[in-house]
Amino acid sequence: MQPASNISQVVDPPWTRDSWRRHEAEQQPAFDDTIQLNEVVRELESKPPLVTPWEVDRLRGQLAGAAAGRRFLLQGGDCAELFSECRPDIISNRLKVLLQMSLVLVYGLRMPVIRVGRFAGQYAKPRSSDMEENNGEILPSYRGDIVNAPEFGRQARRPAPKRMIKAYEHSAMSLNYIRALGEGGFADLNHPENWDLGFVEHDGLRLEYQGIVDSILEALRFMEAVTSNPIGDIDRVSFYTSHEALLLPYEEAFTRISESSGQAYNLSTHFPWIGKRTNQIDGAHIEYIRGIRNPIGIKTGPGMTKALLLPLLDRVNPANESGKVTLITRFGASSIEKYLPPLLRAISASGHEVLWTCDPMHGNTEIVGAGIKTRRFKNILSELEQAFDIHADVGTILGGVHLELTGENVTECIGGARGLDEADLSRAYQSEVDPRLNGEQALELAFAIVRKRRAMRKEAS
Ligand code: PEP
Ligand code: CO
Repeated sequence: MQPASNISQVVDPPWTRDSWRRHEAEQQPAFDDTIQLNEVVRELESKPPLVTPWEVDRLRGQLAGAAAGRRFLLQGGDCAELFSECRPDIISNRLKVLLQMSLVLVYGLRMPVIRVGRFAGQYAKPRSSDMEENNGEILPSYRGDIVNAPEFGRQARRPAPKRMIKAYEHSAMSLNYIRALGEGGFADLNHPENWDLGFVEHDGLRLEYQGIVDSILEALRFMEAVTSNPIGDIDRVSFYTSHEALLLPYEEAFTRISESSGQAYNLSTHFPWIGKRTNQIDGAHIEYIRGIRNPIGIKTGPGMTKALLLPLLDRVNPANESGKVTLITRFGASSIEKYLPPLLRAISASGHEVLWTCDPMHGNTEIVGAGIKTRRFKNILSELEQAFDIHADVGTILGGVHLELTGENVTECIGGARGLDEADLSRAYQSEVDPRLNGEQALELAFAIVRKRRAMRKEAS
């Protein structure tokens, strides 16, 4: 592993898990009770972590494989988890969608898929405005369940440090169930009916999906007959967790030193990411993230230039380790063509090791009707297809996708095989923040990715 070439290395002052406190931190709530805030952080510091350094290291290795084109990263889940949605049906439906999508991708792309959920800790949200006005009253914006409550009321919107303890507890409850489901039975490839989503009723999708399941089962039976042994290790799957590392006191409390290596890990999640609004090179979030061993994601949107990105990568990954940094691009279908190619060329020329993934959600949000936030399936698909083409043109690898989705039968995004339109949005719109793909739309996108990759391969041969 070599440092990236021709970039001057700036020597940073020593990192500690709280050195971020000496930097400007964007998007932090205005807690009025700092004594309680400190007590909560001390309490969380004494709690068992949610993940282990070994898992984190394994994921980093797998992400290096995705950067090299040997694996594909499927990262998806809610925009914002809610404490009230820490329920068995919601958790298992979300896993079902991710399992179905990953099956389609494994089969279609012929490579292992890394499954990472935006779950078990995705409770903090950045907001474009600190305050919200309603009927003449001005209150703090909702910043995710880890900070305050979505209802518009003085008490609900007051940032309350103790909610961090609830966030930890709900993350632990979710993860416990996710791990149990992944261990067997539910995720058994011999029994894909366990992860059938009842509401995927669109004939085309259902038939296409069933065809894949049947082919896989046939192949498994064939191998078992040939080897006279059951195929091992197909009765369980692993899921990794991810969330936006936004609320820094919480992240600090779960930053632990590994006894075996002496290195710092964020053990509240496997894969923290830094959002678009907090990726300033001299800001507190980048200061925090540069010192941990976890693989990290950095959202990259309009406004990110070569001049900003190269020093940022030197700062967070000075050893230029593969698998360490994932750049999650989110430009929007109408802007990706303008912004992505120069960044890809710059990084290729500089030699920085990164995994490129595409978030086709956050650059495609629009407001329709009476202020409803939505996204059009055709724009999501268009950004994703353009991303594949642009990477192929430049000679770089698109190694994954980052999606907002749910296993619930919501109507938050327009379009897809069922042709949801503006009028459908009010029928089952549940998100407190960004609109998510429902299970059917998510599965459809997985098929579209496979189709796109196959068409590209055919063109190249
Ligand atoms: C998000 O992922 O929910 C988000 C807010 O994204 P971004 O930082 O890319 O806007
Ligand atoms: Co979002």
